[in-house]
Order: sequence, then structure tokens, then C-alpha cells
Amino acid sequence: MAVNYDETTGIFTIQTEKSSYQMQVDRFGVLLHLYYGGRVNGPMDYLLTFQDRGFSGNLYDAGADRTYSLDALPQEYPCQGTGDFRSVCLSMENPDGTLSCDLRYRSHKIYNGKYGLPGLPAVYAKEEEAQTLEIRLEDEASGLEAVLFYGVLPKYDVITRSVCLTNRGTEPVVLHKASTVCLDFLWGDYDLLRFYGRHAMERNLERAPIAHGMTSIGSRRGASSHQYNPFMIVADRNAGEEDGRCYGLSFVYSGNFKGEAEKDQYGQTRVIMGLQDELFSYRLKPGEAFYGPEVILSYSGEGIGKLSRNFHKVIRHNLCRGKFKEMPRPVLVNNWEATYLDFTGEKICEIGRQAAELGIEMLVLDDGWFGKRDSDSVSLGDWVVNEKKLGGPLSSIVERVNAMGLKFGLWVEPEMVSEDSDLYRAHPDWAMVIPGRRPVRSRQQLVLDFSREEVADYIFDSLCRVLDSANVEYLKWDMNRSVIDVYSALAGCAEQGEVLYKYTLGLYRFLDRIGRRYPNILIEGCCGGGGRFDAGMLYYGPQIWCSDNTDAIDRIRIQYGTSFGYPISAVGSHVSAVPNHQTGRSVPLKTRGAVAMAGSFGYELDLGKLTPAEKEEVKAQVKAYKDNWKLIQDGEYYRLSNPYEPDGLGAWEFAAEDGSEALLTVVALNTHGNPLTSYVRLKGLRADGWYRDEAAGKMYEGRALMEGGIPVPHMEDEYQSWQMHLRLCGER
Ligand code: DGJ
Repeated sequence: MAVNYDETTGIFTIQTEKSSYQMQVDRFGVLLHLYYGGRVNGPMDYLLTFQDRGFSGNLYDAGADRTYSLDALPQEYPCQGTGDFRSVCLSMENPDGTLSCDLRYRSHKIYNGKYGLPGLPAVYAKEEEAQTLEIRLEDEASGLEAVLFYGVLPKYDVITRSVCLTNRGTEPVVLHKASTVCLDFLWGDYDLLRFYGRHAMERNLERAPIAHGMTSIGSRRGASSHQYNPFMIVADRNAGEEDGRCYGLSFVYSGNFKGEAEKDQYGQTRVIMGLQDELFSYRLKPGEAFYGPEVILSYSGEGIGKLSRNFHKVIRHNLCRGKFKEMPRPVLVNNWEATYLDFTGEKICEIGRQAAELGIEMLVLDDGWFGKRDSDSVSLGDWVVNEKKLGGPLSSIVERVNAMGLKFGLWVEPEMVSEDSDLYRAHPDWAMVIPGRRPVRSRQQLVLDFSREEVADYIFDSLCRVLDSANVEYLKWDMNRSVIDVYSALAGCAEQGEVLYKYTLGLYRFLDRIGRRYPNILIEGCCGGGGRFDAGMLYYGPQIWCSDNTDAIDRIRIQYGTSFGYPISAVGSHVSAVPNHQTGRSVPLKTRGAVAMAGSFGYELDLGKLTPAEKEEVKAQVKAYKDNWKLIQDGEYYRLSNPYEPDGLGAWEFAAEDGSEALLTVVALNTHGNPLTSYVRLKGLRADGWYRDEAAGKMYEGRALMEGGIPVPHMEDEYQSWQMHLRLCGER
């Protein structure tokens, strides 16, 4: 049993293979958090200490006992109004306008399998793979009920959390903040690892101590954002890749979020993750329920590398869905950086012809195939094929491409509308524009109100007409601006604070419908590259275009940051032309290929401009990727270097789970006169195994490579790379 409740002590214990999580219903019915960390068996309530906290709030039930204060005690779901002055999960406005809530334990349920969430993405599992604990709490004064969900997947050391808030009272209440999870640490010094960035430079790692005062990351942009990823790690100060205690929190949601970390007055640490409370208020009428999106938690006592691999596995196997989740993804060529909006049907077919000769498996037609889309300021919303530009219906292009032996994929941006479009002229009120104000433009486009079903349904029908007209086998789902003018014509003035949450639910409903109607279409998420790279989107499509930055050297850092929370199979990554369009940098084709192979692989350039020698190299890359697909996507991923370090290397490795083979990649990030020799230590090999370097034929002992490392061959020029494929030949 992964979940146990001891009636005599009121202690809930959740066990995964290598972690334990404990909480206790105390004598007042408050649900206290006791422990989260490496696996233990005994009760952990001895960790709680009680001292005079008279200057904090003391719960009335405690009478004259000034040592009982929720300002000092660790909790599962802290609320505003209980004397806890730290940041809380729940802030609720009562019918009388006061802000207060005091949740106490009422009952619980434990069952096999994993709970699901209506309308929201969530980890799923077979009955025998998981257990669920539901704890029901209630605020007696208002009648608000909170059900805390815990989904336990022992083999990945994963516990998922969610919350359902139901108004069981007789009058409406308003939620001003409804976070999903709180982790209270009684003692210890921790670092917070967050992944910040900007368009074309996403998910840079920043690690800093959690200090007194509040540190928060989040998004107010309507999408999870380029600026902060909804994934963070709390780690012991000394935790590294291979050792130390660490915790990961991944928010399974694609809209506004907030992650908080605070060291309090008593040296305790509180970490919160959930919906962003700014731009949010949610009116719950009597009988109505509200679901807080899921957070995936994982613990590793064996360092951050292991923590990442826990997330890789749970996301790949128990969050991504559909037939493509564990299948080889087609190697694709996308025309965006080859042509931008300036193409004809002939040009697209020419790229296809080149691609087929090189072994590429799919051609993706990016932006510009619809309406009058010759510039990025027009036609979004008019999902009608531009037959003049393509030289015929979409089906004629697709048939030609299919006849070359290639699949065909298409770019769409369903949530957007251009002011210069037939849709906007017919339905200006479908765009999010605040009445009486001029909208804020971004990329010259407006956002459609996807919180309204009729709006989403119209777009759905027009996209289906296109998808039904031709054999489309892949969709690139883009979103190229943030939501600013938050307004829905259908929502009343008391409900405008719900619009962004309902927008995201509308997006999920739409994606779900597309997925059900077209189970054979592979969906790749995109949001100006990696602006909506989150676990929520991965529930609807198993890969996401990682960044609009295709420069291999920048990509090493972007993909490094991404690897902390997301599997390699989720990372859309392409080889593009040099000089690179975003940075002007020229990187050898070999290195561009090696970097893009650490993802769902493809090309994004005019293949016709390659020299014959380059074409041969591309052929070899495509073959290498196909040959190693299983190792790359299913293998254990190891970060071997920190590419942010001055003079650092880009070094990573895929090792088969059974240690039978490994693929090492090293990229020189800079070069110097009279160079030093760089070394890397391999990981994940069988210590007693003997491995053969497939190219050089040299034999190595697994233990030697993992303990002594290996010298990286000298590279004459910067940005050169070296790959070594090791195969197990025997064991001592
Ligand atoms: C942004 C995407 O990330 C690009 O790859 C490309 O699809 C453009 N949008 C098209 O407008």
C-alpha cells in the first residue's frame, strides 16, 4: 500500500520506492505537514516543536496555549485568516466581504488508481500503478469544502497534488488565490532552481539560496511564458547532479502561474505552486466546484540528475498520450527558416523532393498557407487555404508530397485573430478587447476569446474543414502573443477575473477535441518557440518546439535548462542554416546535427542550398538519428557538464536503462591557444561491463569511464563536437 492512515495518531503516510510523505490531523482537526524526503517508516510527528508564539496568531481552540500557532506549524493547505502570516494557498472572500477561511479535516478516501481532473490535464495511471488519497477539509463558517488530492506513482517517486474547492454554503464566495500545493520544510537551508528567460532564450537555469522574504516566479501573460517556466526545484545547498536531496514541482498547466519560496521568521522554508493570484478571482456559487490544476512532485535523494529522470519518465509515460507518445517521431523538415512567408506550392514541393532524397520523413508547411497571409499582420482567423499561393488545393500539394514518400504537416495558430481578417470584420467582439479601450497589439494580432465555446467552436469547424480536405499527419500549434486585454463579452463584471482560467480550459477542450477527432495527427506545441513549454501542453501533444532560437550553441544552454524538467522526446529541435538567423553564428553541420539530435529531430532550412557534401552529411545524420532513436528517447539522460560555466563544454549522454549502450556528445563552446585537455566522466554504465567505442574500436571498462572519465579529443576550432557510441560487449 502506497498510502496508509493510522487512526490512533491521525498520521497519513505516503510511500514511494525511495521517498516518504507524512501529514497529521492534529487534535484540532488541522492538517499538518510532517515530512517529505527520503524513505522512512516511523511516525515523524516528533519533529514538531512548540514554543511560545504569542506574537503570532494562536488558534482559538488552543485556549491559553500560546505555543500553538499556524504561523509556525507546517501545513498542507494554509489559508488566509488563521494567523499564518506567511504566503498561503487559499485566500477566500466570504459573502460578507471578509477574507478568511479555516479548513479542518472531515474525512478521507484511499483507492487504487489515479484521480483525474475534469477539463484539466493530469497524470494518469493504471489501477495497479498508482494510489489516490483524497482528504476532505471544510471551513465551517462559510461551508467551503476543499478536497486535497494526492496521486502516488511509487516507481517514479512521484506524488501528484491537486485541489477541488466546492461551495457547500448558501451564498457565493470568491476565491482570490487558490494555489495547488504547499511544501513546508521545518529546517534546513535550501536553494531554489528556476528557469527564466525571454523569447528565443528560454529556460536558463538560475540557482540561488532561498532567503528571508519572498522569492516568486510566475506568469501574467495568459501562457506559461518564455520568462519563467512552471517548473522549479528546491534543493539542499550541497545537492549536485549525482548527490543530495532535492524536490521538483511541475505545474501541469499552460496559463498564468505562480511559484513562491520563502524562508520565514523561524528559519522554516515554505514553497507554494499553483495558479497566479494576480488577474484572478473566481466566484463560486453555492454548489459550484473549482479545480486547481495539478502539480507533479518528485523527490530524489540521489541528486538533481535522478530528479530530472523521474520527471522524464512520468511525463513521457504517464502524462503524454496518444499513439505517438512512445513511437519514433518522424524526422521532419519545416519550411519556416527556408522561406518565411514567401513561398509557392512549387517551392514547398521542391523542399519535399530534396527531403525525400535525404531520408527525411515529413514535410511541415509553416505559417503563410491561408487567407492573404503574405505578411504576419493579416488573416489569422481565416483558416481557408490560399489556393492561389499554393497553386491549387492543399490536397494537391499533400498528394505530391505523399507521393515522394513523405508525410505532411501543417502550422496553425488557432487562438489568434488579425484585425485585417474576415473573421475580425464579422465578429470584432470575439477578440479580447476591453470595451471603451483600445487593445494592446502584439505581433499585430489580437487574442480570440477561447473562454467562449462558440468562438472556439467556429475555429474548430474551420480547421476541421482544412484537415478533412487533405492527408495532414502533424499539426504545429502556435501562439504568438500574450493575453493582455483580459475581457470576455459573455462574462459578467463579477466574472472577469475567471476569464484567463476559462481561456486555458477552452484551449484544453479544443485540443482534446482535435486529439479525439484526429488520433493519427501528431501535435507539436509552440508559442513563439518555447513560451508555453509546460507539462499541461504535453498532455495534448507529446512534443513542443523548444525555442525559436535554432543556433546550436544557444540551444545547448536552452536544452540543458529544459532537460531539468522535461524528457528529450518532448523537445522539438532542428538543424538550421548558417550563419544562424537569430545569432549570426556559424556552427559546423556536424555539431548542429548532434545538438538537434538531443530532441525530436528535424531540419529547418532550404535543403536545396546544401552542397553535395553537406547533403551526404545530412543523410548520415538522419540515419544516425533513426538508428539511435530508442537510445535517445528511451534512454536515461545525463547532464555531464554545465554549459554556463566559463570555458565550459556542452556534454551530455544517453545510456540505455540496462547499461547495454550509451551515446556521448561533447561540444567545444570555445577554444584557446595552448589548450588544456578536457575530461568528462560517463554515467549510467555497468561498472563491470566492457564497452567498445563503435567508431574507434577501443575497449573501456564501464567503471573506468565512470570513475576516471575520458579525455575529450582536441578540437581545433570552436563549436566542434565529438560523439562516442559505446556498446556493451561483455562483463567481467
Ligand atoms: C513562431 C514559431 O515559433 C516559428 O517557428 C514560426 O512558426 C512562426 N511563429 C510563424 O509565424
